[in-house]
Amino acid sequence: MAFLDWDEKFELGVKHLDDHHKILFSLLNDLFENFGESSADALLISVVDQLVDYAKYHFAAEEKWMDFSDYAERLQHRSEHEGFAVIVSEFQHDFQQGKKCLSMEVLSFLKNWLSDHILKSDLNYVINSGDFKYLIGRQPILDRSKEIVAYELLFRSTGSIVANVTDPSQATASVIINTLTGFGLSDILGKHKGFINLELELLMDDAVNILPKEQVVIELLETLEVTPELIARCRFLKNNGFSLALDDHEYSPMYRELYEFIDIVKVDLMQSDRARIEESVKEFRAFPMKLLAEKVETQEEFQFCLELGFDLFQGYLFAKPAIMAKKRMNESGVTLLGLLKLLNEDAELSELESAFKGEPGLTYKLLLLVNTVGVGTRNKIGTIGQAIAVLGRNQIKRWVQLALFASDDQSGSENPLVDMAAVRACFMENMAICHQAGTFSPEKAFMTGILSSLTDVYDISIDEVVRQLSLADDVHEALTERQGGLGKLLYAAELLDEMKFSHLGEQLEQLSISLDDACMCQKRAYSWRKGMS
Ligand SMILES: [Fe+2]
Ligand SMILES: [Fe+2]
Repeated sequence: MAFLDWDEKFELGVKHLDDHHKILFSLLNDLFENFGESSADALLISVVDQLVDYAKYHFAAEEKWMDFSDYAERLQHRSEHEGFAVIVSEFQHDFQQGKKCLSMEVLSFLKNWLSDHILKSDLNYVINSGDFKYLIGRQPILDRSKEIVAYELLFRSTGSIVANVTDPSQATASVIINTLTGFGLSDILGKHKGFINLELELLMDDAVNILPKEQVVIELLETLEVTPELIARCRFLKNNGFSLALDDHEYSPMYRELYEFIDIVKVDLMQSDRARIEESVKEFRAFPMKLLAEKVETQEEFQFCLELGFDLFQGYLFAKPAIMAKKRMNESGVTLLGLLKLLNEDAELSELESAFKGEPGLTYKLLLLVNTVGVGTRNKIGTIGQAIAVLGRNQIKRWVQLALFASDDQSGSENPLVDMAAVRACFMENMAICHQAGTFSPEKAFMTGILSSLTDVYDISIDEVVRQLSLADDVHEALTERQGGLGKLLYAAELLDEMKFSHLGEQLEQLSISLDDACMCQKRAYSWRKGMS
């Protein structure tokens, strides 16, 4: 038996932390094996050094993650690390000088500190930072004017402690609880509603009350059997303020009683033929519920459902807007691309100013922005030159990139395309920041994310975009071939958009980014996006 055995209770469910901790354990066990050797023993000296060095390395890494996630108790956690580092460094020094030898007292201190710290402080960090739990798939739900009104949420565990439970309903409950407490539903949803699928067990369970009624629509799976208990439960939930939806549903007289308190019926376009859908819609009209068309994939299907009077729409047509009618790039789009080119080339201020002058609307918006965010400047900003000085070129560049989307006909903030592009760009930027080797420029990652979405809005090929801008080689390569580090990052972001979680895992592995880190980046992207609207 080892001096300190690694067992399940030390598993925090966060791979990079667990890996570090296992190494610390094995170094401590090495130390124990050499216990009794004299302080002049070369092997023992080297093990002491390795343990001290590795502990410091691990602490620095852990603290970096805490800073990144704004973990509330990070200062206290850091001081625990520092206290330990001081003690072991002193011991290391005395040991090297031959003033102290490795005693059982020292070994016990190391063992107790390490296991205590992992089981209390590190575990507390994992549970309360909320950064390590789930990747969230989000598919927009739109109204008749193609504005986002809600999202359906899908959760994918990244293998955390709570996901190791065997009972599926318990797992769903854990997912929901963790999402609400950790991820922050409002970050993901903004002011919109979230549709969440519930299994029967959870539907019947009191845990359901943890969901914020105003913001959640409970989806009842099509596999649910209509029983008096189910009807009673739904009536209770409805009377308590929840909204209810039926998933993948076709009209059936069996459900009549349930229809009375259902808010939304989701009709899957793939599952029924059109005649059947038309009939169903007629029957549903007897009840006050809204109709949602699911799996809308073409403009023609969207039109068909609009004419039938559907209220809400969901499907790849909106999640992947490339299929929607694109438009030619208008004047302001061309000006914006020109501006972006100048910014990429680090053009002179005078050139930038004259480019802005060609676009009075844009200049106005920029001045509005800088006067809003330019905190600390006493005088009102009146010129482009001043605006650039206050915001900095990078901020302006970022803003110009986003403006390319906002100039779309649809109102900016609820346009699913702006939503997707902004989240993707910010996700990539954060992935670049957290990439361990630090090889990617966050600014380039943001730009790659934005530009990759541009062809979805405009009738313009990616080659044309690339030709019009002075892009760095790696951005160019990423956009046209999905090659290089940035290309891989972009591909990962695309997989996340498409909710292809299993492929995403492989891609992240190639990038040496853990799923937990990706989760954290996604969370930050959602928060940032929420702040924009
Ligand atoms: Fe720690
Ligand atoms: Fe730790």
